[in-house]
Amino acid sequence: MQDHFAGHQVHLQTARLQLRPFREADFEIAEAYYRDSEFLNAMEGEPPADPPTADSLTRVGRIMAEQGFLFAIVEKASGRTIGEVCLQWMNLDRAKIPDEKVMRMPIGIWDKSLWGRGYGREVVCCLMEYAFEVLEIDRLRPIDVSVNNARSVALWRACGLRIAGESSDRKLDFEITRSEYVRQRPIHPNQNP
Ligand SMILES: CC(C)(COP(=O)(O)OP(=O)(O)OC[C@H]1O[C@@H](n2cnc3c(N)ncnc32)[C@H](O)[C@@H]1OP(=O)(O)O)[C@@H](O)C(=O)NCCC(=O)NCCS
Repeated sequence: MQDHFAGHQVHLQTARLQLRPFREADFEIAEAYYRDSEFLNAMEGEPPADPPTADSLTRVGRIMAEQGFLFAIVEKASGRTIGEVCLQWMNLDRAKIPDEKVMRMPIGIWDKSLWGRGYGREVVCCLMEYAFEVLEIDRLRPIDVSVNNARSVALWRACGLRIAGESSDRKLDFEITRSEYVRQRPIHPNQNP
């Protein structure tokens, strides 16, 4: 039986992927991938003291689910659940803007063999469309991206975001405003059939 962990019923799709509400059982799949240090470091910025478990991932996931739309990323061709992404209302005071609807978007494709195939870009394009056109947000702000995370930096740039700031510990804040999104919309492939 399906659970209602994510607390939403939004189903989206791109050419090769489905985004469906995240289920509690998905954390059991995620746990093994979080044992990989390259994936873990990319996700967390710096390695945590103890490797995440399904339980600890569930605790963090519950907070994200309460703060937005937590999705599992499913590869259509294989039917496999290959990652997670959250369209999350901005929860850090420093990145909020008075009178604006601001969101962030933590994303992880668990299986390294699937990196660099354009899946990340498909997911982000799809969720940007949902965020700006359905939720009518004012600004998307992926924050705390390590300058050393070349894939992530390339992903946000490829999706039309720009660097809005860099912290002393070499973390980048990316952003795109509604007017920037509308201006560049034609460069986004139509991902939602
Ligand atoms: C970051 C992540 C989501 C990107 O997803 P992806 O499917 O690998 O990315 P894509 O294949 O869509 O590539 C996005 C862009 O990065 C570029 N890119 C891909 N691999 C790259 C690499 N090793 N170095 C530099 N750029 C790279 C691509 O060319 C593409 O740009 P383009 O569309 O202009 O050609 C994925 O790699 C991942 O889950 N990494 C581990 C977790 C993580 O880092 N999450 C983000 C934390 S802030």
